[in-house]
Amino acid sequence: MTPTAIADFMASLFTHWPRTVRLLDPGAGVGSLTESFAERFLANAPASASLEAHCYEIEPLLQDYLSDHLQEVEALCKNQVHRFSGAIHNRDFIAEASFEIGMGAPRFTHAILNPPYKKINTDSVHRKMLRQVGIETVNLYTAFLGLAVAMMEEGGEVVAIVPRSFCNGPYYRPFREFLLERAALTHIHVFESRTRAFKDDEVMQENIIVRLVRGARQGAVMVSTSHDQSFSDLTRREIPFVEIVKPGDAERFIHVPTEPVGDFGLLFSHTLEDLGLEVSTGPVVDFRLKEHWLAEPKGRCIPLLYTHHFRGGRFTWPMEHKKPNALRLNEDTRKWLMPRGCYVLTKRFSAKEERRRLVAYVIEPKQLEHDHYGFENHLNVFHRHKQGLPSNLVHGLGLFLNSTIVDRYFRNFSGHTQVNATDLRAMRYPSRETLIRFGKWARAQHTLSQEDIDRYIKNENGG
Ligand SMILES: C[S@@+](CC[C@H](N)C(=O)[O-])C[C@H]1O[C@@H](n2cnc3c(N)ncnc32)[C@H](O)[C@@H]1O
Repeated sequence: MTPTAIADFMASLFTHWPRTVRLLDPGAGVGSLTESFAERFLANAPASASLEAHCYEIEPLLQDYLSDHLQEVEALCKNQVHRFSGAIHNRDFIAEASFEIGMGAPRFTHAILNPPYKKINTDSVHRKMLRQVGIETVNLYTAFLGLAVAMMEEGGEVVAIVPRSFCNGPYYRPFREFLLERAALTHIHVFESRTRAFKDDEVMQENIIVRLVRGARQGAVMVSTSHDQSFSDLTRREIPFVEIVKPGDAERFIHVPTEPVGDFGLLFSHTLEDLGLEVSTGPVVDFRLKEHWLAEPKGRCIPLLYTHHFRGGRFTWPMEHKKPNALRLNEDTRKWLMPRGCYVLTKRFSAKEERRRLVAYVIEPKQLEHDHYGFENHLNVFHRHKQGLPSNLVHGLGLFLNSTIVDRYFRNFSGHTQVNATDLRAMRYPSRETLIRFGKWARAQHTLSQEDIDRYIKNENGG
């Protein structure tokens, strides 16, 4: 349930107070959001305005609490000569909303939501219902947000607290299109710490609060940050929309520029394509090749590299582990392999305790003398036409990816702990010459601490 301070902050983002307010609270829980909203309404709406709240909540156990809350709100409104009516819809919001949208939806003026978070399966009934109203999405939270936007009248305001994962990643692209076509994104609030907003939240996502206005012209976006739910260190910055969604970006990534990257423009000037490089998810899905697993390398085999072979800046292979160290080399396995060479690898998932999102490793032929390498699916691989790269370039790219500035830059457009190949493709990089220079320097060092890397990159950019 949303803590009161967060619910109050969310309610404070509404700016439009007509005489008749029709509020949607989908997945209302015990009604905390409606209650905070009502307080704002009472403080801001014109005299004798009316508030009609529609709370959708599927869980029967919450009904009584929700009903008590709505009665309290009603009493509050009466005291102040405002009219209130509260409706509890004890039904599945997705089914109800998609039906109502199909019929010509009741138009709400406001929506406030902290929706449920759960994957929607490809062939589920929910997926079909959503598709019928033009929403193509993979999680309940984006479904709720999309439906809420679809049910707003022109100028209607939506404030939601949701995971940040929809802002990037290929699966959410149709959803981003749906959202940005129908509403202007006017405010994004980011909690800078992953854990403090919801102390017990196990979900590895960062939550953001967004405000959207149905049918409004897209202007600059207010980006606010706070370290926790006390909002005591609230910062606010207005960011041009072109910095939030880059013009011409077919993926429609929503960048949330909270991390100051400063004036490091030259570091982020080239696309991977400009550099003649490609990045892919590690092609080996291990269970599909189970019959070819080898616990230890022997005979005609190739190393199968997993993230656990790369730890604390070191590469250790083979190592004792429940997963295999090698694959038999044969016709079945060959097509999933890359030839011996220099590659940069990044981990797709950073561990909760890891400070960095981007963790890069360099692999070179002198470390592995086999003719081919197998890169497991939890790694991303930088390559060119599925072949290795020049050594200096690889070392330079590894150094760049491991710098603090790049980790910050990456966080600006990736809210989740996953590092997808799509994200790495969308990122910008230094020129090839610069990367080669970085690489020559990196290769001449015996050891490289985080401070060494950051100092070097800073000096290279004029301090
Ligand atoms: C994250 S909780 C938030 C509750 C409340 N909005 C708050 O902020 O405190 C999401 C709520 O959505 C409800 N829910 C889940 N699936 C639903 C559905 N299909 N239709 C309606 N409510 C649903 C859950 O029972 C839960 O109470």
